[in-house]
Amino acid sequence: MVLRIVKYGDPVLETAAAEVTRFGSLELRQLVDNMFDTMYANKGIGLAAPQVAVSERLAVIDPSAGEDPSAKLVLINPRILVKEGTQIGEEGCLSIPGFREDVRRALRVRLRAQNVDGEFFETEGAELLARAMQHELDHLNGVLFLSHLSPLKRDLIRRKIRKLAKAGDW
Ligand code: NI
Repeated sequence: MVLRIVKYGDPVLETAAAEVTRFGSLELRQLVDNMFDTMYANKGIGLAAPQVAVSERLAVIDPSAGEDPSAKLVLINPRILVKEGTQIGEEGCLSIPGFREDVRRALRVRLRAQNVDGEFFETEGAELLARAMQHELDHLNGVLFLSHLSPLKRDLIRRKIRKLAKAGDW
């Protein structure tokens, strides 16, 4: 089921999410399935639970955008263990549609997370996957990619969004 994506301006996007505790439940599995459906329907490569108005530490990622089933990644209560190097590349967000900007991120990350049954695992990513991991983990802390831009760029985008919202186009 495709869920409604919350847009910039909704406080849930700027609130730190709570740890997931409902492991093994049907509801958690359904939420994960619905988040993948929602991400693919919107042509994204990552989606965090706060973006569907669920303030819990859960994100789904698929850098192949549905091309490779083995690329699907579910991260619950994730923590970054190691960050290495830097990369600068264009980034967008399904909650901030229409805006893309260069963002500096670590080139490689290693993290520890839980799966839907609560089992811990470690995984790592580089380049685009590492970028998606860092972007989605930020969401769980109420941080948007706008926070990584210069104040000038950030204010410009905020002003444009306020204008769109006033016109009823946001
Ligand atoms: Ni995002």
